[in-house]
Amino acid sequence: MKTQHWFMILVSSFILLSCFSPTMRKIADTKQFLLGVAVRPSDLLDPKDTKLVQDNFNILVPENIMKLQYLRPTETFWNWSDPDKLVQFAEANNMKLRGHTFVWHNQNPPFINNLSDKNKAIQILQDTITQVLTRYNGKFYEYDVCNEVIDDNGVLRNSIWMKTIGPEYIDMAFKTARQADPSVKLILNDYNNDYAGTTKGDAFYKLVKDMVDRKIPIDGVGFQLHVMAEQPINEQALRANIKRFRDLGLSVSFTEVDVRIKLPVTPEKEAAQQKVYLDLLRIAREEQVSCFMLWGYTDAYSWIPGTFAGYGSAHPFDAKKNPKPVFSEMKKLVTSFK
Ligand code: G3I
Repeated sequence: MKTQHWFMILVSSFILLSCFSPTMRKIADTKQFLLGVAVRPSDLLDPKDTKLVQDNFNILVPENIMKLQYLRPTETFWNWSDPDKLVQFAEANNMKLRGHTFVWHNQNPPFINNLSDKNKAIQILQDTITQVLTRYNGKFYEYDVCNEVIDDNGVLRNSIWMKTIGPEYIDMAFKTARQADPSVKLILNDYNNDYAGTTKGDAFYKLVKDMVDRKIPIDGVGFQLHVMAEQPINEQALRANIKRFRDLGLSVSFTEVDVRIKLPVTPEKEAAQQKVYLDLLRIAREEQVSCFMLWGYTDAYSWIPGTFAGYGSAHPFDAKKNPKPVFSEMKKLVTSFK
């Protein structure tokens, strides 16, 4: 046979193989592994983005649209349109949903930032949670009821909720959420809370343990895990932390994973990044983490460069939305899950 024919056979086999090789979504479903991503409204509009989301993930979280700045920009106006579309998209594609987030110090509308009366603040907090969880009753798998309530010194953050209501705002938020929708898992989410033996990690644990001891309806904790390629995962401290929350009867979710690289990108830094992504995935599986969420899939829309000057390339798809080698390795690892 002529060389040309062999070449044609090779090319067709390659095309056939890539058509029939299962998607990451299919593999994750088969392995019963919840692998998700934070999405923006455009991810559900642009056909290329939509296909990418459909082909790779089985759980979604809104990156911004359910934060109160967007969802409830004034006391009387609710912007339900984008969350409704997200819920419909998830249902149509048989995907789960994480909610993010009710009670936070950031991305609040002016009417919340200007609160000063305690009773009014309680009413807004309870009404917001009740309205959302009544509208979307049974639709969310888990919800970040409160986000980042502990500051970098390990004490309760002096947020608008703390200032107006006092520390009991956390209990109130969880109790209200449980009452509004008993089916959704209620999560306390934070960053730098992932390692046992650190100031913030231990303060976060103490707060959660106290909630559990007092029978506040909390179901799990979220570790955001916005991490750096240059810092290898401290596997022992991460596993010890997961274990102590699970010993309290709680689930642990990896809620906002990204692995930023100090620019310029080099093959060595990419190898370090790959190790971090794979370590996190492996630990998530072995420790029965509830879900593994990427905080965005592509460098095209990344929040990283705007927040961490000199860092980038944090996500498994490049700025043209093509998978990087790290994503192929993640796919291989998920395929190998027992
Ligand atoms: O909506 C405005 C738009 O009108 C304006 O034209 C544009 C110009 O910059 O800004 C838009 O707002 C931006 C918003 O994201 C929506 O894109 C804000 O400037 C920007 O600050 C905001 O950043 C978000 C950030 O939270 C705010 O703290 C990021 O997208 C979002 O990824 C990030 O997510 C947080 C999690 O919720 C909690 N954990 C940390 C994580 C990373 O900061």
